[in-house]
Amino acid sequence: MCGIVGYVGDRNMESVLLVGLERLSYRGYDSSGIATISGGELSYWRTPGKLHELEKVLQNMSIRGTVGIGHTRWSTHGEPTEVNAHPQVSTNGKVAIVHNGIIENYLSLKNKLSAEGFLFRSQTDSEVIAHLIDRYLQTDLAAAVERAVLDLEGTFAIAVIAENQPDRIIVAKKGSPLIIGVGKKENFISSDIHALAPHTKEIMYLDDHELAIIEANSVIVKKINGAQVTKEVHTITWDEVVADKGGYDHYMLKEIHEQPSVIRNIISKMVSPDNALIFDKLHISNGDLNKTNRLIIQACGTSWHAGLVAKYMLENYARVLTEVDISSEFRYRHMLSEGHAIVAAISQSGETADTLACLREAKSKFFKVLAFVNVKGSSIDRESDGVVYSYAGQEVGVASTKNYIAQLVTLYLFTIHLAVLRWTLSKEDAVKMTNALKRVPDCIEKILSQVEKIRAIAEKYAYSKEFLFIGRGVNYPSALEGALKLKEISYIHATGYAAGELKHGPIALIDKNLPVVCIATKSSTYDKMLSNIEEVRARKGRTIIIATEGDTSVQHLAEDIIYIPEIEEDLSPILVAVPLQLLSYYIALKLDCDVDQPRNLAKSVTVE
Ligand code: F6R
Repeated sequence: MCGIVGYVGDRNMESVLLVGLERLSYRGYDSSGIATISGGELSYWRTPGKLHELEKVLQNMSIRGTVGIGHTRWSTHGEPTEVNAHPQVSTNGKVAIVHNGIIENYLSLKNKLSAEGFLFRSQTDSEVIAHLIDRYLQTDLAAAVERAVLDLEGTFAIAVIAENQPDRIIVAKKGSPLIIGVGKKENFISSDIHALAPHTKEIMYLDDHELAIIEANSVIVKKINGAQVTKEVHTITWDEVVADKGGYDHYMLKEIHEQPSVIRNIISKMVSPDNALIFDKLHISNGDLNKTNRLIIQACGTSWHAGLVAKYMLENYARVLTEVDISSEFRYRHMLSEGHAIVAAISQSGETADTLACLREAKSKFFKVLAFVNVKGSSIDRESDGVVYSYAGQEVGVASTKNYIAQLVTLYLFTIHLAVLRWTLSKEDAVKMTNALKRVPDCIEKILSQVEKIRAIAEKYAYSKEFLFIGRGVNYPSALEGALKLKEISYIHATGYAAGELKHGPIALIDKNLPVVCIATKSSTYDKMLSNIEEVRARKGRTIIIATEGDTSVQHLAEDIIYIPEIEEDLSPILVAVPLQLLSYYIALKLDCDVDQPRNLAKSVTVE
């Protein structure tokens, strides 16, 4: 997590850095800071809290300088205070660094440097980098950075400025993303392309173990402790649509309402007028897809839930054994490289550290790697053999909504593609499934038209201490997703459970105070689900039921009921997600929570 930016050039330094930080604040918003060199003197400003706190401090100053770096933080080591904010500076105040990543051996380095007289002021792991560079600095800053990073264990993307060479930023990378934006008589650095988009479309991706010397008129890249390398300059061809709230109070609400158009967009990109499916970056041959006897999906959080839904479809239609693992768990198990397996990584950001690490591990074991990813140009996009884009557009709200829906849709289309290829689904049935998907945007619009009703239900239960979400089959992952959405934005404890598992423990939680959100849409396990709801009712649980329009037989079981349009079971998780998102949103709103930037979270989880 954490976002870093830097600029060398003649523009208004403050504005370039602050715009960049604003665009990176989804990567963490515990504190922010900038450092510049002007008239040969290094100055820095840091504040705890969101970026507007830093803006307040800077508002009556005119920040000058031809080099500058900035940072927005998601705390790992040390509380979000001013001293722990970045830039971190050397004891003599002449070297400043910003860092994204984790330095695992920082304690031993800190002890060593402290013994040598370096003064530590923060609790961060990052501060050692500033002191180490200072320790090795004679005249050449790049040489000092190069020497210093050799001492570091862990992950880093760093940007460094120093008073003795006020015309350059030195950057180095291992494990965390870093991009160089190439301009005319100016250059930029950033954790991702969002911060660069307003300034340049010419991008260089720094690879691990590389270091770059960035001046206004030149960019020199070399291997750390190695030779100079020639980097390709990529021209970003896709349009970066600058996200705004579009009249909604929060990005999350806007993104929920965008979902019908997201699906229409996916259909227009991936389904031809004669219903042929288009996967233009799949890059895994039909032969390999056909031979595959095992799909290993690995992802985190909401993306993992999308993978769980996909498992039902992939096994049912494409008849391929599908395992779905949490990346941080999968990573430390012993990956068996037997059979013709494909490893699929699902990720909105394309930067999730654990998912990326699994992908790299899989590649090192010669698996083909397929990514389902939203952010183009992200590490997971670039490092996978094949890619299926989510086409969700930029998702700003930290809680994933429209991208989850987009993942479900693209995984559904991929399932159809794979099943037809493997002769486990007829072309006629494939067309039927594709046509069914085309009804989904209208169905979501119908759900969105009930927003006031859902809001009233949300407000009624908003002060509950905890929630239980239950579902079965393809909607068991929906229960997990509903619970995750609620807890992350409202801070109410919530658990998602497979309804059939209730009686193996969690039923003990149920009493007259516990709201239980029950997903009881028409499905192959509908009758079983009704029995589970009966069990909840028998123990006086407060049932909020999500049911299929026209289903009156659930009414007697419900304290409250939300109807969604009738749809094929495989597509029901897409519709079910919408009332669950709205419930969470309006509960969080009622509790006055920061919906778009919930505490302790970041949109892009680039640390393990
Ligand atoms: C929850 C949420 C997270 C992400 C998870 C993985 O709303 O957004 O659980 O799904 O951090 O992130 P990506 O998909 O970027 O790999």
